[in-house]
Amino acid sequence: MFDFAADPTQPKPELYRDLVSAADALTAGERDAVANMANVAALVWQLVPELNWAGFYRAVGSELVLGPFCGKPACIRIPFGQGVCGAAAASGESRLVADVRAFAGHIACDAASRSELVVPVLRERAVIAVIDLDAPREGRFDAEDQAGIEALAALLSNRI
Ligand code: SME
Repeated sequence: MFDFAADPTQPKPELYRDLVSAADALTAGERDAVANMANVAALVWQLVPELNWAGFYRAVGSELVLGPFCGKPACIRIPFGQGVCGAAAASGESRLVADVRAFAGHIACDAASRSELVVPVLRERAVIAVIDLDAPREGRFDAEDQAGIEALAALLSNRI
């Protein structure tokens, strides 16, 4: 059994330190990428407050394909360059969107989403996946969330 508890009073840098160390413990020694993405999606969903979607899209050829996630069923294939996820995948850089309605080309998978954070997972400088977080509140994500999820993505580079 894995029992990771969320502390709502914790400052974000601490929360993400705990999250990355829990993800490290969960994925250490396991070579199956789907198992590791599934457990990390569940962990993010459990520990990060105010999310309505949390999960992975994997880079397959020139498009992203839905991976393990928590939340409502989502669109399955996103070409590189389209939507927030495709923009992050095409550039290899994180995308922090305070108001998804103001992002031209945003792909609405859940009508409740108001803000979004997408962080690419890189291996040898190639994008192998993106981590996508959606929230029902505008401006939910800030630079501390981005830094925390980027640290998670760095850990996962050789584990998914
Ligand atoms: N909103 C994303 C699509 C994926 S869902 O949010 C799960 C985008 O614009 O790429």
